[in-house]
Amino acid sequence: GSMLAIIGAMDEEIELLLGELQGREDLTLPGATLHRGVLDGVPVLLTRGGIGKVNAALTTAHLLGQGATSVIFTGVAGGVHPDLRVGDIVVSTDLVQHDVDVTALGYDLGTLPGEPATWTADARLRALAVAAAGDVGGVRVIEGRVASGDQFIASREGVGRLWKNFGAACAEMEGAAVAQVCAKAGVPFVVIRSVSDTADHDAQVDYRTFMPLVARHAKQVVRGMLERL
Ligand code: ADE
Repeated sequence: GSMLAIIGAMDEEIELLLGELQGREDLTLPGATLHRGVLDGVPVLLTRGGIGKVNAALTTAHLLGQGATSVIFTGVAGGVHPDLRVGDIVVSTDLVQHDVDVTALGYDLGTLPGEPATWTADARLRALAVAAAGDVGGVRVIEGRVASGDQFIASREGVGRLWKNFGAACAEMEGAAVAQVCAKAGVPFVVIRSVSDTADHDAQVDYRTFMPLVARHAKQVVRGMLERL
């Protein structure tokens, strides 16, 4: 059978979906707790993945081990594309690890030996996400590259670097790790990010201020996707 996995970045957001999970069963594994149940009639595995690429990879591996056949990651990001404002939504086309640097050995910036330069999100999940995001009123929806790294980007130089080096639409800290693990297993995935800040000098303040709003947007997109499955 098919089993959809949903990874949320934040406790607040997972709590909203967890409250509506029918027949909830908790499964505690090394370094992650997964919640199994039915959401809007769809069997799902739901979890809070924790922060950073390692936590995201660990959690994703557990989800795949428990039978996930597709993976949605939802959370917040710093906007990098100049058109993005707080509240807007990015649906991943592909993902890159912007903090990878093996250029001394002749590899392109962002590319690990033996790995592709980017990981491509699933076309069907992308289309579902774009359709669902379209129902969130008053926000721009952009399809673009998601840049992941174990760094909170909070400077004009930082944003400029991600835009120039990678053509990134947004910056976050997990998506490409989820993508790398899913790609190895041949499991389709998509990353959906609501913009909480524009990754500049105001990023810390904006991030905290707008988190509740963007978490609601993210949740709305997930439920919109489930309705359309
Ligand atoms: N998540 C939300 N805002 C972010 C930023 N500015 N950098 C990295 N991850 C983020």
